Amino acid sequence: MQKILFVCLGNICRSPMAKFILQDRVNKAGLADKFEIDSAATSSYEVGEDIYPPAREKLKEHSISSNGHSARQITKADYAYYDRIIAMDNSNLKNLEKLLGKDKDNKISLLLDYTDEPRDVLDPWHTRDFEATWKDVNNGLDGLVRDLGYDELSRS
Ligand code: 4NP
Repeated sequence: MQKILFVCLGNICRSPMAKFILQDRVNKAGLADKFEIDSAATSSYEVGEDIYPPAREKLKEHSISSNGHSARQITKADYAYYDRIIAMDNSNLKNLEKLLGKDKDNKISLLLDYTDEPRDVLDPWHTRDFEATWKDVNNGLDGLVRDLGYDELSRS
């Protein structure tokens, strides 16, 4: 079982996109029993909120459902429970350290570290460009699933 938690600032755009896209790939490949995937925020700003409508629309364009989301803030119990905690940008990493302390189990990484071009995932809250974020997240997921040994879940 691979237990993966995606993390961003608000848990209404980037990390839910990563969660729903990876869950969709996993479901389509018949691997749902091998993965547990969730997402969380570093902040409490949007706790209880649904996915942000433009992020929902971007997923819908690709026939990916995003039902049942409710933003939540990461906890120390999440750090203990999940195998990999995958952040969207460097400011998320700083906030995670404040919330959780040092990454003593080496579980925390950045999504685009799994690509040939490591950098922050573009933040659509600021750019308003949900297509660019869609591309970043999918590229990161391609690398992540290969790193996990599930090449069949990668588009490349
Ligand atoms: P997310 O986007 O971290 O990708 O969910 C944001 C959502 C809310 C805020 C910032 C980014 N905010 O400042 O409220």
